[in-house]
Amino acid sequence: MSIEVLHRSREEFLAALTAAGTDPEGIEAVRVRFAGRRSGLLRDLEETLKGLPREEKPAYGKALNELKRLVEETLGAAAEAASRAKASTGLDVTLPGRRPLVGSLHPVTLVRREIESIFLRMGYSVADGPEIEDDWHNFEALNIPPDHPARDAQDTFYLPSGMVLRTHTSPVQVHTMESQRPPIRVLIPGRVYRRDSDLRHSPMFHQVECLVVDEGITFGHLKGTLEAFLHGLFDPSLAVRFRPSFFPFTEPSAEVDITCVLCRGAGCAMCSGSGWIEILGSGMVDPRVFAACGIDPKRYTGFAFGLGLDRVAVLKYRLPDLRLLFGGDERFLRQFGMGVPA
Ligand code: PHE
Repeated sequence: MSIEVLHRSREEFLAALTAAGTDPEGIEAVRVRFAGRRSGLLRDLEETLKGLPREEKPAYGKALNELKRLVEETLGAAAEAASRAKASTGLDVTLPGRRPLVGSLHPVTLVRREIESIFLRMGYSVADGPEIEDDWHNFEALNIPPDHPARDAQDTFYLPSGMVLRTHTSPVQVHTMESQRPPIRVLIPGRVYRRDSDLRHSPMFHQVECLVVDEGITFGHLKGTLEAFLHGLFDPSLAVRFRPSFFPFTEPSAEVDITCVLCRGAGCAMCSGSGWIEILGSGMVDPRVFAACGIDPKRYTGFAFGLGLDRVAVLKYRLPDLRLLFGGDERFLRQFGMGVPA
């Protein structure tokens, strides 16, 4: 009679375990129901053993022990099968997580942003203008007459319409002065185009232009601004040197050199042994430019300068070839991340 209970329990257990399949929670429920320490069925059956008449005990005890072993072994096997099934779903919790792909900023963008932040801190605003220009803005208003060598077809891309791809950012000086009254403090970054291509030149490159117009602006303001700018951009220990020069739209004009950032003045291939690197063109706005833009040259003075962003990137990141900037090679670009390469 009591042995029969054991048989029934065995059948029930096997049926319940089959129903649970490889579901770990189902298997656990079967374990609790049959082998749970507090109220499992096996425990109840042990209690029954205690109350049996002596002569029934050996047979019952033996059958109960067999049932216990069966429950233990099949539960263990079922739990193992369940964990194997889970592993085969491809979930490996020990794998390192996948990193999101983060893009990087182009070195020219990094340099442009750095320059913008220096000038924004000094109270400038940032402006831009069209890359396709008319003759007036690119040349005429900037005091570049029709026979000036800067207009040479060697340098300028002319469009069939007679418009040009701007050869510098200076035409945005003209747009700014045509549309705003002094005081003017603007920074103008942008793409420019020249028919030039070699190790140090690309037919498309980037410039940043600066224009300040107000009453009483002097060459001293230009010098102070340039020193603050170049020390902020490179490093405060660099010397800044002004050399007399000529631009049709500034008078007087100066080209500005800094101590070579590579050899720090000792002389190297980058600075052709001179210890200096030419970095920008500058000067006081020519009164003829003011007149062309409808600003009174007797009342106002101003300064302007322009520099190549790509060249700054070459110097800052020590690039062996300017064309790396325009090749789109990801192995090169990835090194920049969101800041300076490691
Ligand atoms: N536009 C000049 C160039 O492209 C640079 C420049 C800008 C010089 C402003 C003086 C003042 O070379």
